[in-house]
Amino acid sequence: MGNVVTNVQEIIASNKEPPTPELKQLTERQIEIIKNTWAVPYSKPLDSGEIILYTYLERFPMNQQKFAAFRNTPIIMLKGTPGFRSHAHKIMKNFATAIDALGTENGLQVILGVVTEIGKYHRRRE
Ligand code: HEM
Repeated sequence: MGNVVTNVQEIIASNKEPPTPELKQLTERQIEIIKNTWAVPYSKPLDSGEIILYTYLERFPMNQQKFAAFRNTPIIMLKGTPGFRSHAHKIMKNFATAIDALGTENGLQVILGVVTEIGKYHRRRE
Protein backbone atom coordinates (compact mmCIF):
# COMPACT_ATOMS: atom_id res chain seq x y z
CA MET A 1 0.00 0.00 0.00
CA GLY A 2 2.80 2.39 0.97
CA ASN A 3 4.54 1.67 -2.33
CA VAL A 4 1.37 2.30 -4.33
CA VAL A 5 0.88 5.64 -2.60
CA THR A 6 4.54 6.58 -3.10
CA ASN A 7 4.35 5.73 -6.80
CA VAL A 8 1.20 7.81 -7.21
CA GLN A 9 2.88 10.69 -5.41
CA GLU A 10 5.85 10.45 -7.78
CA ILE A 11 3.59 10.46 -10.85
CA ILE A 12 1.73 13.52 -9.54
CA ALA A 13 4.99 15.29 -8.68
CA SER A 14 6.44 14.65 -12.14
CA ASN A 15 3.18 15.90 -13.73
CA LYS A 16 2.92 12.78 -15.91
CA GLU A 17 -0.49 11.42 -16.88
CA PRO A 18 -1.18 8.48 -14.58
CA PRO A 19 -1.64 5.25 -16.55
CA THR A 20 -5.16 3.76 -16.70
CA PRO A 21 -4.92 0.41 -14.92
CA GLU A 22 -6.03 -2.67 -16.81
CA LEU A 23 -9.41 -4.07 -15.68
CA LYS A 24 -8.99 -7.64 -14.55
CA GLN A 25 -11.72 -10.25 -14.18
CA LEU A 26 -11.68 -11.61 -10.64
CA THR A 27 -12.51 -15.22 -9.85
CA GLU A 28 -15.31 -16.09 -7.43
CA ARG A 29 -12.69 -17.17 -4.91
CA GLN A 30 -10.82 -13.86 -5.19
CA ILE A 31 -14.08 -11.96 -4.68
CA GLU A 32 -14.86 -14.06 -1.63
CA ILE A 33 -11.40 -13.33 -0.17
CA ILE A 34 -11.81 -9.59 -0.77
CA LYS A 35 -15.30 -9.52 0.80
CA ASN A 36 -14.27 -11.57 3.84
CA THR A 37 -11.14 -9.48 4.38
CA TRP A 38 -13.03 -6.21 4.01
CA ALA A 39 -15.69 -7.32 6.50
CA VAL A 40 -13.08 -7.11 9.28
CA PRO A 41 -12.36 -3.34 9.17
CA TYR A 42 -15.88 -2.55 7.96
CA SER A 43 -17.42 -4.09 11.09
CA LYS A 44 -16.34 -0.81 12.74
CA PRO A 45 -16.25 1.61 9.79
CA LEU A 46 -15.79 4.83 11.72
CA ASP A 47 -13.00 3.53 13.97
CA SER A 48 -11.21 1.68 11.17
CA GLY A 49 -11.58 4.59 8.74
CA GLU A 50 -10.17 6.97 11.29
CA ILE A 51 -7.15 4.75 11.95
CA ILE A 52 -6.46 4.35 8.22
CA LEU A 53 -6.78 8.08 7.46
CA TYR A 54 -4.79 9.05 10.54
CA THR A 55 -1.99 6.62 9.73
CA TYR A 56 -1.91 7.81 6.13
CA LEU A 57 -1.58 11.48 7.11
CA GLU A 58 0.99 10.58 9.76
CA ARG A 59 3.11 8.82 7.12
CA PHE A 60 2.55 11.42 4.38
CA PRO A 61 2.15 14.66 6.38
CA MET A 62 2.33 16.97 3.35
CA ASN A 63 -1.07 15.63 2.27
CA GLN A 64 -2.75 17.06 5.33
CA GLN A 65 -2.26 20.47 3.71
CA LYS A 66 -4.63 19.49 0.91
CA PHE A 67 -7.56 19.23 3.32
CA ALA A 68 -9.04 22.68 3.85
CA ALA A 69 -10.79 21.54 7.03
CA PHE A 70 -7.71 19.86 8.56
CA ARG A 71 -4.68 21.79 7.36
CA ASN A 72 -4.36 24.18 10.30
CA THR A 73 -4.83 21.61 13.06
CA PRO A 74 -2.03 19.45 14.47
CA ILE A 75 -2.88 15.88 13.47
CA ILE A 76 -3.08 14.65 17.06
CA MET A 77 -5.90 17.15 17.69
CA LEU A 78 -7.91 15.75 14.77
CA LYS A 79 -8.16 12.32 16.34
CA GLY A 80 -11.70 11.64 17.54
CA THR A 81 -13.22 14.81 16.12
CA PRO A 82 -16.55 14.42 14.28
CA GLY A 83 -15.23 16.13 11.11
CA PHE A 84 -12.20 13.85 10.83
CA ARG A 85 -14.21 10.71 11.58
CA SER A 86 -16.93 11.71 9.16
CA HIS A 87 -14.42 12.20 6.34
CA ALA A 88 -12.85 8.84 7.12
CA HIS A 89 -16.30 7.26 7.08
CA LYS A 90 -17.03 8.66 3.61
CA ILE A 91 -13.84 6.99 2.34
CA MET A 92 -14.92 3.69 3.90
CA LYS A 93 -18.41 3.94 2.36
CA ASN A 94 -16.90 4.38 -1.11
CA PHE A 95 -14.84 1.23 -0.67
CA ALA A 96 -17.88 -0.60 0.71
CA THR A 97 -20.04 0.32 -2.27
CA ALA A 98 -17.39 -0.93 -4.68
CA ILE A 99 -16.70 -4.13 -2.74
CA ASP A 100 -20.41 -4.90 -2.27
CA ALA A 101 -20.81 -4.61 -6.03
CA LEU A 102 -18.14 -7.23 -6.76
CA GLY A 103 -19.72 -10.35 -8.20
CA THR A 104 -23.14 -8.74 -8.76
CA GLU A 105 -24.87 -8.46 -12.12
CA ASN A 106 -24.13 -4.79 -12.86
CA GLY A 107 -21.17 -4.67 -10.46
CA LEU A 108 -18.68 -3.30 -12.95
CA GLN A 109 -20.95 -0.35 -13.75
CA VAL A 110 -21.36 0.39 -10.04
CA ILE A 111 -17.60 0.23 -9.46
CA LEU A 112 -16.86 2.45 -12.46
CA GLY A 113 -19.43 4.92 -11.09
CA VAL A 114 -17.73 4.96 -7.68
CA VAL A 115 -14.26 5.38 -9.16
CA THR A 116 -15.48 8.16 -11.47
CA GLU A 117 -17.00 10.05 -8.53
CA ILE A 118 -13.82 9.61 -6.48
CA GLY A 119 -11.87 10.95 -9.46
CA LYS A 120 -14.04 14.07 -9.48
CA TYR A 121 -13.39 14.73 -5.76
CA HIS A 122 -9.67 14.42 -6.38
CA ARG A 123 -9.21 16.32 -9.61
CA ARG A 124 -6.35 18.77 -9.71
CA ARG A 125 -7.54 22.01 -8.16
CA GLU A 126 -6.25 25.36 -9.39
C1 HEM B 1 -9.30 5.32 -2.55
C2 HEM B 1 -9.00 6.18 -1.59
C3 HEM B 1 -9.85 7.40 -1.34
C4 HEM B 1 -11.19 7.52 -1.27
C5 HEM B 1 -12.24 6.41 -1.40
C6 HEM B 1 -11.48 8.92 -1.03
C7 HEM B 1 -12.75 9.45 -0.88
C8 HEM B 1 -13.03 10.79 -0.79
C9 HEM B 1 -14.35 11.34 -0.74
C10 HEM B 1 -15.65 10.54 -0.73
C11 HEM B 1 -14.23 12.68 -0.68
C12 HEM B 1 -15.37 13.71 -0.61
C13 HEM B 1 -15.64 14.03 0.82
C14 HEM B 1 -16.83 14.97 0.99
O1 HEM B 1 -17.80 14.90 0.24
O2 HEM B 1 -16.78 15.78 1.93
C15 HEM B 1 -12.82 13.00 -0.70
C16 HEM B 1 -12.30 14.28 -0.64
C17 HEM B 1 -10.96 14.55 -0.56
N1 HEM B 1 -9.92 13.65 -0.58
FE1 HEM B 1 -10.11 11.64 -0.76
N2 HEM B 1 -10.30 9.61 -0.95
C18 HEM B 1 -9.28 8.73 -1.14
C19 HEM B 1 -7.94 9.01 -1.12
C20 HEM B 1 -7.39 10.25 -0.92
C21 HEM B 1 -5.98 10.52 -0.79
C22 HEM B 1 -4.86 9.46 -0.89
C23 HEM B 1 -5.83 11.83 -0.58
C24 HEM B 1 -4.49 12.51 -0.38
C25 HEM B 1 -4.28 13.74 -0.45
C26 HEM B 1 -7.17 12.44 -0.57
C27 HEM B 1 -7.48 13.76 -0.43
C28 HEM B 1 -8.74 14.32 -0.46
C29 HEM B 1 -9.01 15.74 -0.34
C30 HEM B 1 -7.98 16.85 -0.16
C31 HEM B 1 -10.40 15.89 -0.41
C32 HEM B 1 -11.19 17.18 -0.33
C33 HEM B 1 -11.50 17.46 1.10
C34 HEM B 1 -12.09 18.85 1.27
O3 HEM B 1 -13.12 19.14 0.65
O4 HEM B 1 -11.51 19.61 2.02
N3 HEM B 1 -8.08 11.43 -0.78
N4 HEM B 1 -12.12 11.84 -0.74
